[in-house]
Order: sequence, then structure tokens, then C-alpha cells
Amino acid sequence: MDSPKPPFRRSQAWFGRQDRDGFVHRSWLKNQGYPHDLLDGRPVIGICNTWSELTPCNGHFRELAEFVKRGVYEAGGFPLEFPVMSLGETQLRPTAMLFRNLASMDVEESIRGNPIDGVVLLMGCDKTTPSLMMGAASCDLPTIGLSGGPMLNGKFRGKDVGSGTGVWQMSEMVRAGEMTMQEFSSCESDMHRSTGTCMTMGTASTMASMVEALGISLPENAAIPAADTRRKRLAQLTGRRIVEMVKQDIKMSQILTRKAFENAIRTNAAIGGSTNAVIHLLAIAGRLGVELKLEDFDTLGSEVNNILNLQPSGKYLMEDFCYAGGLPAVMREILPLLHSDCLTVNGKTIQENVENAPCYNRDVIKTVAEPFMPAAGIAVVRGNLAPNGAVIKPSAASKHLLQHRGPAVVFESIEDFHSRIDDPDLDIDENSVMVLKNCGPRGYPGMAEVGNMPLPPKVLQKGITDMVRISDARMSGTAYGTTVLHTSPEAAAGGPLAVVQNGDIIELNVPERKLHLEVSDEELARRLAAWQAPEKPKRGWYKLYVETVQQAHLGADLDFLVGGSGAGVPRDSH
Ligand code: FES
Ligand code: MG
Repeated sequence: MDSPKPPFRRSQAWFGRQDRDGFVHRSWLKNQGYPHDLLDGRPVIGICNTWSELTPCNGHFRELAEFVKRGVYEAGGFPLEFPVMSLGETQLRPTAMLFRNLASMDVEESIRGNPIDGVVLLMGCDKTTPSLMMGAASCDLPTIGLSGGPMLNGKFRGKDVGSGTGVWQMSEMVRAGEMTMQEFSSCESDMHRSTGTCMTMGTASTMASMVEALGISLPENAAIPAADTRRKRLAQLTGRRIVEMVKQDIKMSQILTRKAFENAIRTNAAIGGSTNAVIHLLAIAGRLGVELKLEDFDTLGSEVNNILNLQPSGKYLMEDFCYAGGLPAVMREILPLLHSDCLTVNGKTIQENVENAPCYNRDVIKTVAEPFMPAAGIAVVRGNLAPNGAVIKPSAASKHLLQHRGPAVVFESIEDFHSRIDDPDLDIDENSVMVLKNCGPRGYPGMAEVGNMPLPPKVLQKGITDMVRISDARMSGTAYGTTVLHTSPEAAAGGPLAVVQNGDIIELNVPERKLHLEVSDEELARRLAAWQAPEKPKRGWYKLYVETVQQAHLGADLDFLVGGSGAGVPRDSH
């Protein structure tokens, strides 16, 4: 299945043939009005589009694709846009994450099965970035990423309000009796008032930053707002560039090396990025055969200073980040920590791209010497409660809770949690450790973003806003709190989390990277032996997913999707 070396164009295996099949491939395409010379061997560029009205964050992608096409045509290529499954974080149930791997299969097979020489990935809402990156990586054609850009800052009653983060904050105020439901609802149209993705440093902005840090997009990809015309210009330049990449045969795997992932991990720490980046980067690396481990996030990232004062960890929003200089300014600041020689899609190294990047606002983008938060990258904790690890984002946690010992209050499912958390008789106070089970990859299924459980009203009413929470779930990148996430193995896979009981003492010690259930080994073994696995789904995608999904510490990809199959030309269709 290996493709011959350039100047052979893969697309010519379809369009370059003087036979019946060549007729079929060309003739049907021409029904869209394309002149014959577009099929003359110039690079055919697939524009992989996640536009959907059900993915509001990507709602502007058809327009954006037009600007990519301009660039492709200008550079002498032939653009063909195609849709793939689009995952809308705010609409899809039970969680968009359940379908990340499914969408990646769509992407992979759409690329490999079609007459495409190079790909532009149009990515925005949280899962659309990893699903496209994963699928494209398993093909490994020349590939360039283009993110949709964040929304303009939310504006509510004269103040900035951030996607997600503002929802979590205000809904807790409602629960504490500090805000009425009516006031809360009146913010709906004010929080999200332009096209684009969440404008906090949530998962979408984190992943857009990862794309840029990995070098698989043009510089400035992460922060330019969706509504800013510079996003269109970037799209056009992206279109021009992919044509050159095909001519130079720069494949995805040449950019996405182990060193590039190390740069991404360090950058994620420097921007206070989402814990979801851990799972997504592990999964993308897995497709490329790049050795990346959960531990790498701790070893490489945890000592890196967070220099970006953005919500949910800080104050500002993505629009401010853009005007302050965007990701190049952050990467310039941490350049001594990066592999500066990594190649990026524009043919230049990371160093060449960022070494002169200006910063226009030091309150938004701080310096390594005077950081926003020192050593605040993601930490990996382990112990008898999480033998394969769990993650916590110290920059979003409360300092005083990073070392904490308290009795467990256990919820068997998120429904169990919701039905009891507001009960005034629930035996819980601020010293308790909230434990949520069965929300991992297999358990939910799909590993929902429910790890940042709301606090009980009786604790909130004391003015307390954080407690230690432990689960096998994920948490929204826009959320915050002392939440231990991604506990592996998960409860539904028979991890020790499954047998935690009310009143068990749990010790969290982040400086020592420890998560310990104070129950004897014998007792733990006895409980685990009595544990019964939950029933599995019987058909369809749920069944395939639950039977084959890997645990969180491996990236939660399906086991048979790890690795790639290249982009050899499949056999004839007729
Ligand atoms: Fe789509 Fe946040 S919900 S980016
Ligand atoms: Mg999210």
C-alpha cells in the first residue's frame, strides 16, 4: 500500500487514467462544473469540514472553507470540501466524547478512500480537533490544521463573562441563593454573541493551541477570534500552504514527532490548558506510533510555570489573548523549554516562528520570571485508588486542598449524585471527599465531563466554593476545582474506585503525587472479588465502543484504531 515517491500524485490514481474508471472518476466530478484542467495532476486538496448547525461552535465553517479554497486555487491546487461527523459539545448526549473515535474513523476512511493528495482539517469545538487529528494521522498525508477561532468575549451587564466558566460560577451562585434563576437565564444571549468556540481556555482553545504548538497549523491559529477577518486571511494562507506542502511532500508524521508532543505538553502547562488535552494528545500520538505516556505530562509539564492569565484559571478571555500577542508570544517566552528546532507546517522551525513574537499586554501573557502561577502544569497522582494514574490540574484547584484527608461520600452514578446532593440530610461537609463512580470511558459510556460535581448547598451556603472531588470522569476545560479526574482503571472496568464506600478515608497529596484509600490490601481485595461488572450495551456503536475502548491513561482510543494504515491507494471500486 506504499505510495510511490513524488511527483506521483495519489489523486492521479483516480483522475490520471485513460480508461473506463478514469472516465467515471472525472465525469461524475465534472457535474459540479469543474474544467478538465483541474484534474491535470495538480495537488488535490481535501478540506475536511466539521460544519454543522448542531455544532454551533463550527457553524461558520462553510464560509471559512471558501477562504481556504481561495488559497488552494491561488497556489495552483484543486480544493474539494467534504463533510465528516461533527461533534457538538453542548448538544450531543450522552457526551460528545463517546463519538470522538467514531468521527476519527469517518475522517480516516474519507481521506484514504478519496482522490486526495493533501488535507486541510477544519476544527473547532472540543472533540472535532482530536477526531480530525487522529483520523488524519492514521493516513499520514500532507496535512495542515485550521481552527475556527474563539468567540468574542461574552459581555453581561457591562462585564466580561466566559463560556462555561461563567455558567459554572453563576449556577453555583443560584444554588447558594446569591442569584435568581431569572438573572442567570438573562445571560444566555450575552455569553455567546458571535461565531466561534468557547472563549475561555477550555478544551477547544486548548486543543487549538496544541495544534499550533505541535506545529501542524500556521502560527497564530489558536487565538484569532472567529469573527475577526484575520481568521479568514489565515484560512486563505492555510489553503496556499497546503498546496506547497503536497509539492514538498511534508507528511503529518514529519511534524508530529515525539519532540513536537513534548512541546505541546509544555505549552499546555504554560497556558493552563485543559485536562482533556492529556487524553487527546495520548490518542493522537498513539495513531502515529509516537511513544507518549501519561507520566510525560507530569514529568515534562508540571514544573512549567503557567504564564497565561485566562479563565478558568485566571481572569481574561481568548479575545484578550489574541490582542496580547496570542500563542506565539507564549511560546517565545517558554522557548528555552521547547525543542526549538521542531519543523512546522510553514517549513520553518518553532524558533523561527516565535523568536520575535511581540507581547502587547503583560497582564494577560506573563513572563516565566514572573508567572501567573508557578509550576502549575497537570499532575498525575497514583496509589491504590488509581493504580494506572489519575490527573489533577493544580492551576484550577484550591491550594489548601492539594493535601487533604477526608471521609468519602460516594455516588454510584451521576443520576445518584443529582438525586441526593441537594438533600439537607446528606451526611457531607467541606472536609468530605466526593467520589463519583461509573463515569469513565466504559462506564458512562464515553467518559462524560461530570467530574466537577457541584457542591452541596449546605456547604456553599457557608461561603465555601471548593471541595476535593474524585472520579473516573473528565471535566470541562472551562471548569475548575480540586477535582481528581480520569481515575484509571475506571469503576466500570473493575478499578478500585468501584469499591470505595461511604466513610472510607481518602488521602490526596498532590505534592507527593499520591491518591490513597485508607483500606487494607486484604479488605480491598475482598471488596474487588465481590464486585460485579455492570451490564454492557448489546448493539451498535455503544457495544463496539465499550468492548474496545482503552482506559483513560492510554488516551481512550479504541484498541484496534491505535496506529495507522497510511494512505495507499485502495483497489478499484468498479
Ligand atoms: Fe464548542 Fe466549547 S462548546 S467549543
Ligand atoms: Mg468542553
